Amino acid sequence: MTIDEQGSESESIGYDLHVNGQTYPVEATLDRNLLGVLRTEIGLTGTKEGCDDCECGACMVLLDGQPVNSCSYLAAQAQGRQITTIEGLGNADQLHPLQECLLAHGGVQCGFCTPGMIISAHALLERNSSPSRDEVGIGLSGNLCRCTGYAKIIDAVLDSASNGSVEPTP
Ligand code: FES
Ligand code: FES
Repeated sequence: MTIDEQGSESESIGYDLHVNGQTYPVEATLDRNLLGVLRTEIGLTGTKEGCDDCECGACMVLLDGQPVNSCSYLAAQAQGRQITTIEGLGNADQLHPLQECLLAHGGVQCGFCTPGMIISAHALLERNSSPSRDEVGIGLSGNLCRCTGYAKIIDAVLDSASNGSVEPTP
């Protein structure tokens, strides 16, 4: 049992979450968001916490293939759904093509926004494999980046979609 900031008690319950093709038993109170459970209970820290208020996209994951801000989604509601985090798309030994393109185009600086960007870009390319520049911009409009100015990220996503024919933004 935990006691929240208002002093009310809440019981932890046990349930399973399906993440990146694996089943994880978790024990958490019903008010825990998916972001916190992924990072703290399951140990998948690739998903980042930025604003914690559904504004920045750093916490983006896929739920049954749809991008969702995990800071604003209750973990218990994700039972029975397929959750994909950045760790489910690529890793240091085998980068996802979007990760390779982001590196090639200089679309990664501090890297804090990168997992969420890749999740959103992946979802975009799943529904539109040949997006225009404007469509990429719209597809990433829920993801904030303080470092890159966005152009190199958009180049990278276009490059990933076209397998390497996009000229880098100077
Ligand atoms: S941490 Fe979830 S949108 Fe910013
Ligand atoms: S690379 Fe730093 S916030 Fe995007």
